[in-house]
Amino acid sequence: MANNFCIAFGLLRDCAGWSLRSMKRLGRFFIWQWRAKKRHSSIRSLEVALGANVGERVIIEKGVFIDAGSSIDNFSYINPNSSVENAVIGKFCSIARDVMIGPASHNYRNLSTHPFWHQDFYGFDCSGTASGAAIAKTRIGDDVWIGCNAVVMQGVTLNVGAVIGAGSIVTKDVGAYEIWAGVPAKKIGQRFDSNVIQDLVALDWCNLSPTDIQSLIVPNISNVEAVCKKPTSYHP
Ligand SMILES: CC(C)(COP(=O)(O)OP(=O)(O)OC[C@H]1O[C@@H](n2cnc3c(N)ncnc32)[C@H](O)[C@@H]1OP(=O)(O)O)[C@@H](O)C(=O)NCCC(=O)NCCS
Repeated sequence: MANNFCIAFGLLRDCAGWSLRSMKRLGRFFIWQWRAKKRHSSIRSLEVALGANVGERVIIEKGVFIDAGSSIDNFSYINPNSSVENAVIGKFCSIARDVMIGPASHNYRNLSTHPFWHQDFYGFDCSGTASGAAIAKTRIGDDVWIGCNAVVMQGVTLNVGAVIGAGSIVTKDVGAYEIWAGVPAKKIGQRFDSNVIQDLVALDWCNLSPTDIQSLIVPNISNVEAVCKKPTSYHP
């Protein structure tokens, strides 16, 4: 009898916990809808932390997880089921589906890699234990394209214009406008000649005003050299 009561009580407690968690997720989603409207952004995921920083005209698709320590700047998009932890993402980035950016590491120098010693959930007394080690930020520069199923390891920097092949595991920093692929990822090419890359880095087009992007970049999207040669106020 007492046993049945315990089971029923446990079930009730689990249901209440589940409803509370669902309501919290829904609440978060609606707050994001309100914030996104003001920023002309589209957030279709229930898993974006309220502490995350989302810019203007950003698209975050269903099932994307973004933690409170991360930010994603204007005009970037993230396709379904990707995950962003403790990362800074620049402008005009294209992030495909099932990409993982900055997955946290466990300290394998500890006696155990399991997090029982700093998460109350596992039933141990966690008072007085330090939480996990400081985690290095992962940095994704402007105009980076990351192919589907890629993993960008914690603390890695992808510089402006980088391209990461589908299924790659990136463990090292990637230079501006370089193309990397494989496991572990290696440089397989670069998008333009080195002198053009220098000009593009100097131009820093992603940080021009939308009006300048409209007049300089949009009509010349397939004519990089022409943009670089333009002796205008766009160049510093
Ligand atoms: C990285 C990528 C852009 C390179 O395209 P590309 O310049 O046409 O490259 P190529 O097909 O000429 O391949 C060049 C070399 O890199 C290798 N390579 C290309 N993509 C690779 C990948 N994802 N992983 C491992 N190796 C790769 C090729 O096998 C080839 O090797 P080889 O010279 O030894 O034969 C492309 O392969 C890719 O992965 N695109 C991502 C697609 C995607 O995820 N789209 C999602 C839409 S948002």
